[in-house]
Amino acid sequence: MKTESKNCQNSRLIRSFGRIKSRKLSDHKNFLLENFLPKYEIDSLSTVDRGPSTVLEIGFGFGDFLFEKAKKNPEIFFLGSEPHLNGVVNLLAKLEKEPLQNLKISREDVRILFQNFQPEIFDEIFILFPDPWPKSKHFKRRLITAEFLDEVLSPKMKSGAKLVIVTDHDSYKIWILSEILRSKKFFWTANSKQDWQNFPTDWTETKYQKKAAKEGRASVIFNLIKA
Ligand SMILES: C[S@@+](CC[C@H](N)C(=O)[O-])C[C@H]1O[C@@H](n2cnc3c(N)ncnc32)[C@H](O)[C@@H]1O
Repeated sequence: MKTESKNCQNSRLIRSFGRIKSRKLSDHKNFLLENFLPKYEIDSLSTVDRGPSTVLEIGFGFGDFLFEKAKKNPEIFFLGSEPHLNGVVNLLAKLEKEPLQNLKISREDVRILFQNFQPEIFDEIFILFPDPWPKSKHFKRRLITAEFLDEVLSPKMKSGAKLVIVTDHDSYKIWILSEILRSKKFFWTANSKQDWQNFPTDWTETKYQKKAAKEGRASVIFNLIKA
């Protein structure tokens, strides 16, 4: 089901491939939103003590990757951007059991969120399984374009920062590669096929990655560096 952002309070601009607003939430989910979201939600980084290193995940979905990354790396500050309410609640449920000091959440479309951020703050950005928008009439909704990389992400990233993009969708793989090659601000570090086939050993698979593997689709990882 596709949901347009104009119907969703917290998601200006986004056109999501999945459902942004959940159906009726359970009492526990409402409890999490009322009691835990205020502890974790931010719309600016100005008041946050981020330490030496700041990492962002755009579209964290159910938050498995982000939560594990933040848990394993307490010295690094993590921010996750996700307008999908059920995903946010799922991450809050993890944080209810295991609170983390180095993780914050935004429900804003990242393109809006970035308007509040100063330049050159991120050391690393992950975009895992961005919505593929498989129909050609919807290609214009694809998040990954050279303009998005160069004009939206690049200004907020430090020089030499890493950008990691993962997809399992065949036509999006080719699209992403051609957008990377069109980008003037990022270069692709791959030298051999292992570089896009092999994931880091400490990698946590996301919900979409597990689904893709179960259905026989190979995921590829694009490791980019900001020039
Ligand atoms: C296909 S899902 C993948 C979720 C998760 N990364 C995973 O691998 O399981 C793509 C996610 O990106 C989010 N998303 C799409 N456009 C976004 C944007 N402009 N800013 C932030 N999140 C976005 C959607 O809400 C959705 O949850």
